[in-house]
Amino acid sequence: MNTTAKLELDGNTYELPVVIGSENEKAVDISKLRDQTGCITLDEGCGNTGSCRSSITFIDGDRGILRYRGIPIEELAERSTFVEVAYLLIMGKLPTETELRQFSQLLTKNEMIHEDLKYHFEGFPPNAHPMAILSSMINATSCFYPELLKSEPTEPFVIQVARLLSQVRTIAAFAYRKSRGLPIIYPKPHYRYTANFLHMMFSEPYQDFELEPAAINALELIFLLHADHEQNCSTSTVRMVASSRANLFASVASGVCALWGPLHGGANQAVIEMLEQIHREGDDGSKFIAAAKDKKSGKRLMGFGHRVYKNYDPRAKIIKRRCDEVLDRLDIEDPLLEIAKHLEEVALKDSYFIERKLYPNVDFYSGIIMRAIGIPVEMFPVIFAIGRTPGWIANFREVREGEGGRIYRPRQIYTGETLRPYVPLKERR
Ligand code: SDX
Repeated sequence: MNTTAKLELDGNTYELPVVIGSENEKAVDISKLRDQTGCITLDEGCGNTGSCRSSITFIDGDRGILRYRGIPIEELAERSTFVEVAYLLIMGKLPTETELRQFSQLLTKNEMIHEDLKYHFEGFPPNAHPMAILSSMINATSCFYPELLKSEPTEPFVIQVARLLSQVRTIAAFAYRKSRGLPIIYPKPHYRYTANFLHMMFSEPYQDFELEPAAINALELIFLLHADHEQNCSTSTVRMVASSRANLFASVASGVCALWGPLHGGANQAVIEMLEQIHREGDDGSKFIAAAKDKKSGKRLMGFGHRVYKNYDPRAKIIKRRCDEVLDRLDIEDPLLEIAKHLEEVALKDSYFIERKLYPNVDFYSGIIMRAIGIPVEMFPVIFAIGRTPGWIANFREVREGEGGRIYRPRQIYTGETLRPYVPLKERR
């Protein structure tokens, strides 16, 4: 069903094609608009603008739907693993038993980083934020794979994928150890992805960390739920950088930087800091909610609201359900969970939040689980980055293998000074 849109402009009528996606979403295709009309469109924050066609992840924000390659997040959370979901996102299908075994073996084979990278960690001050370390070390790691830096690498893409997906975890754990002045702990080949990460984070040279299944499963779920989320800020950044033909590691390192912001992947850290402040002040949350509604306060109810979800974020629902179970299994009482639940209950009855369709997003409860596992708060965005790496890789691949593969280069409406002469220094007032 090809339909078109009509645009009346300066007394002329233009017909613009309408693109219809596999879930019947509609977009007015404006790729020829400037040639036809001399005009561009303007959409600050890109809330109404599709940057690409993509077949990786589908979100219906009004109905709270999230699917990876067509499979509902609820089913994947229940039945899949992070490594299997990574394969699904990057390769486009669920792996067969052989494919999954080979992919896992590749991840194991590539879990070590070059030994010389240890010296790079020495250069960071002890209080360096692990997101700064992660983004710089991903780029530093690429220096040890000159093959990667060719605009068209000859080695199989799956090798690059395995290196990055496996080593982002190793780098993150090493960054944590260095920030605590602890000796780095090397991965163990017989551990699976998430268990190995916890081992590298919390074991000591003289004794291995006791790997609680409840903690491993909880972190596996956190990684899986963060694996992709269509054209969010950091994924759009990865696509932008990939479109210049920069290599995979450089593109993902740029995604880490974009994710760090407190309005994006840094929100999970901001939520816990908010809950701790509420707890410290003995507030039941009402004071903070009042401040979050008052624009002058500069505060927001962190972990609430979403550009796309105008309904409950399905990932928040899953994580909230698991919070009670994980804390119970690990025999932990966390007063911040009760505060979070109270905040949600009050906010969802408050007209300010209802009118703006502000619901808990993925970051609202995830920090409670990460705290229970013993992950320090400054590592929360790093956990998000490890989880999001498969999605970034899948989007990188889609840009590089997509038709045309034009460089992303948005236009602008100039609002600065009009033509004026250079004024010599002596004549300036
Ligand atoms: C992630 O895009 C993705 O998919 C991201 C993500 C992913 O998986 O990649 O889902 C991960 O980043 C989740 C979001 C984490 N960030 C936070 O929790 C930070 C708190 N939330 C917000 O700052 C905000 O809701 C955003 C950034 C998430 C969305 O911002 P928008 O879409 O630009 O909305 P907006 O800032 O224009 O807000 C609309 C209105 C404003 O009020 P009015 O001007 O209409 O009166 O809602 C208000 C805002 O002030 N508002 C909030 C609020 N979020 C929006 N008011 C109080 N508390 C909040 N959290």
